[in-house]
Amino acid sequence: MKILVIGGGGREHALVWKLRQSPRVTKIYCAPGNGGIADDAECVAVDVKSLDSMVALANQIQPDLTVVGPELPLLLGVVDEFKRRGWRAFGPTRAAAQLETSKSFAKEFLQRHHIPTAHYAICNSSDEVREALPHFHTPIVVKADGLAAGKGVVIAQSKDEASSVAAEMLSGRMLGEAGLRVVLEEFLQGDELSFLVVSDGERVAPLVAAQDHKRAGDGDTGPNTGGMGAYTTPAVVDDKMRDWLITHIARPVVAGMKAEGAEYKGVLYCGLMMTARGPMVLEFNCRFGDPETQPILMRMESDLLEAMEASIDGRTSDGDFKWSGDAAVCVVMASGGYPGSYEVGKKIGGLDYAAKLDGVKVFHAGTSKRDGAYYTAGGRVLGVTARAAELQTAVERAYEACAKISFDGAHYRKDIAARALKKK
Ligand code: AMP
Ligand code: GLY
Repeated sequence: MKILVIGGGGREHALVWKLRQSPRVTKIYCAPGNGGIADDAECVAVDVKSLDSMVALANQIQPDLTVVGPELPLLLGVVDEFKRRGWRAFGPTRAAAQLETSKSFAKEFLQRHHIPTAHYAICNSSDEVREALPHFHTPIVVKADGLAAGKGVVIAQSKDEASSVAAEMLSGRMLGEAGLRVVLEEFLQGDELSFLVVSDGERVAPLVAAQDHKRAGDGDTGPNTGGMGAYTTPAVVDDKMRDWLITHIARPVVAGMKAEGAEYKGVLYCGLMMTARGPMVLEFNCRFGDPETQPILMRMESDLLEAMEASIDGRTSDGDFKWSGDAAVCVVMASGGYPGSYEVGKKIGGLDYAAKLDGVKVFHAGTSKRDGAYYTAGGRVLGVTARAAELQTAVERAYEACAKISFDGAHYRKDIAARALKKK
């Protein structure tokens, strides 16, 4: 089978790496891919912001299956368009992807279906914000309704701050169209959890749960990022909690979408807060998480292609995934300045030494390759991932690998999975 993977980050590298292990895969294209992905797939140019560009590419390549990594193509309706042409694509339709692309849609949906989430108010104007604010305690979470690449959530410490942030968003100055509607939300406390399932529109098959590290600095300080590291172990959620999350969150979401005429197929990423009142939904993503996918796929022992085909064909089942009992951890090495502005084009050294370490796989997130050498080409550059029987060992291996890799301005968090290690 010929596969086309759309995207070019660490998540897509992990998807390509895993799909390549499937005995039925003969060829993988990745569009646009990156320097490291080029070692595992044929990288081809595409504009992921343009439906026409993706259609033209698929027309040329004629893949047997297209796997969509990032949210933007899903928002544009790439799955609808491919389906219309009789092409097989893994992921939700544009209508189903609204769970990620509109926070107000997601909140109202959750309320309609009695799925636990924070109290909220949807506001289209500063007047509506003023009316809603008295109903909240501080801090207050202010969210842009639309996609904002991780920049759409502000935790305001006072009502004045909430009101001025909301006004900035509503004016369109801060985030453009994405902020023209805002959601005010009750601030929740607890551990965050990334719980992903694959669905065929009716049934769900869970992936192993993971924990992301969104803030740039150690000890969860500094600005929010796309994710600076993630880990997964069998202890992140026990069987009982997994069953609860399936029964009370994942299945009701999929059933609710079907009942509303927007069948949800593909990966449903539930971003949860494990609060004292129980697990609550913070957000949905309609795709694999980045960097969670890197350690999750390191633990997957079954065939990812089979599970994706089962989703498309409406035969997802509980047994679609087999998992290793090992732990896996991914440490993101980023460019100096990220998540603010940063320079690219820095030569990366030491990748060969890192790759020789037991259980280590370095996924490329933002790199390019020239004359056999790799250079930085993005904010998040590498996802240094390690798998081992014990979390402690996986963490040590990942950091040993990071220490062997160098590029100008490189920085990474030193405390990925530290909380889990402390708990033990
Ligand atoms: P979101 O894009 O909705 O996941 O928000 C990004 C991040 O903001 C989350 O990963 C949380 O760390 C934080 N966040 C979002 N909503 C809340 C909330 N209601 N209470 C506390 N933190 C939140
Ligand atoms: N790691 C969070 C995300 O993929 O959105």
